[in-house]
Amino acid sequence: MRFTVISLFPEMLGAALAASVTGRAQSAGILTFNFVNPRDFTNDRHRTVDDTPYGGGPGMVMKVEPLAAAIEAVSTADPPPHRVLLSPRGTPLTHSRVRALAEFDHIALVCGRYEGIDERVCQLGLIDEELSIGDYVLSGGEIAALAVIDAVSRHVPGVLGEAASIAEESFADALLEYPQYTRPAVYRGLTVPEVLLSGHHGRIAEWRRARSLALTAERRPDLLARQRLSHGDRKLINDSPAARLARRTSVILLHYPVYDRAGQIITTAITNLDLHDIARSVSTYGIGAYYVVTPVAAQRDKIERILDAWQNSEQDRADNRIEALGRIRVAASLEDVTRDVAEASGHRPIVVATSARPGREAIEFNTLHRIANDRANHPMALVFGTGWGLSQEVIDKSDQLLRAVCGPTDFNHLSVRSAVAVVLDRLFGLRES
Ligand SMILES: C[S@@+](CC[C@H](N)C(=O)[O-])C[C@H]1O[C@@H](n2cnc3c(N)ncnc32)[C@H](O)[C@@H]1O
Repeated sequence: MRFTVISLFPEMLGAALAASVTGRAQSAGILTFNFVNPRDFTNDRHRTVDDTPYGGGPGMVMKVEPLAAAIEAVSTADPPPHRVLLSPRGTPLTHSRVRALAEFDHIALVCGRYEGIDERVCQLGLIDEELSIGDYVLSGGEIAALAVIDAVSRHVPGVLGEAASIAEESFADALLEYPQYTRPAVYRGLTVPEVLLSGHHGRIAEWRRARSLALTAERRPDLLARQRLSHGDRKLINDSPAARLARRTSVILLHYPVYDRAGQIITTAITNLDLHDIARSVSTYGIGAYYVVTPVAAQRDKIERILDAWQNSEQDRADNRIEALGRIRVAASLEDVTRDVAEASGHRPIVVATSARPGREAIEFNTLHRIANDRANHPMALVFGTGWGLSQEVIDKSDQLLRAVCGPTDFNHLSVRSAVAVVLDRLFGLRES
């Protein structure tokens, strides 16, 4: 396979590619590398490759003429190259794209510098695809080109000694790789997991799959969303820290003290929909309990009657609704809930208020995830308000305020059922990032 790199700084590339895997593949004649410098395609005395941007602004832009001429010269090669522009605005490079790129016989990598390249290089049809290696800005495309070459080369037959090492790597199965160990078996008191020393291939494979699933669930749940998970896989994921945190979490629906439209503190009435739909969300995301809180005794009795009616209905039993409704608990106040949770777990819960209003002190979803994970064994209580939202008093007494869920419009009136579902999905969902 051939790589041609179009770069103003080819000296950054040769040494890096001469080492290790790509170096060996080059010596074996499996990979070839060529470097083309747009400066060699200039016509002026100063060999100018950049100029100031039209419209003003900082920095310089790579000029269209030398770069277009360099790409056109490279394009006449046999086989003609697939032309890739490295760019922060490109499609993020993924494992599946890397594998697809390995199918080309010849790839040309175009490296930008300064503030980037004149847009007309793309408009001329000289670029087949734009790739980014991440959401950050490098000073030039050379390091990105090296990353692409390195990742793609590993999939070219003969480049890696053992083909199996590619098949087992992270992302090959869209899962992160299990932890690896090598000799010595004990280092500073840290031992290697027993099973890896057992020589039992079946158990080792099972352990590795379990660790991969748990790690992926914890760090990259978005990758799991793309997987077809077996029943066994789901059971393994259930042992992950993320799943354990979900089980330590309670959703609390507060009917008092909440605001009405005019900003007065009121007690709202319970609704069938909130009982039922939130119970289903809570079950779907593996949340431990769902507390419905109202200080009005008649309302609490009503909830118990509704639950009885549902639980005794043949149809609902058939629909798996009983499992969801079984997570509902009824309480008179938020204090009663926190006491209940603390008694059951031995730890006071981290109380997290939610609000549709953006608050300056609100924390991000991933920050909350980190805080809750750091306090392993501590339960978490996610508090949602009915009516026009939780009173300031509840927010002030909570340990954290979670960032509001919002869309791009000014209409900011999700039903509490929808808000619970969105929050649970962001905190515990297996979803695309
Ligand atoms: C300083 S950057 C230009 C950044 C550009 N002004 C912007 O804000 O998007 C110079 C060059 O580095 C390369 N580059 C920088 N970050 C990259 C990334 N994350 N992935 C791929 N290429 C990148 C591109 O070739 C780019 O043209």
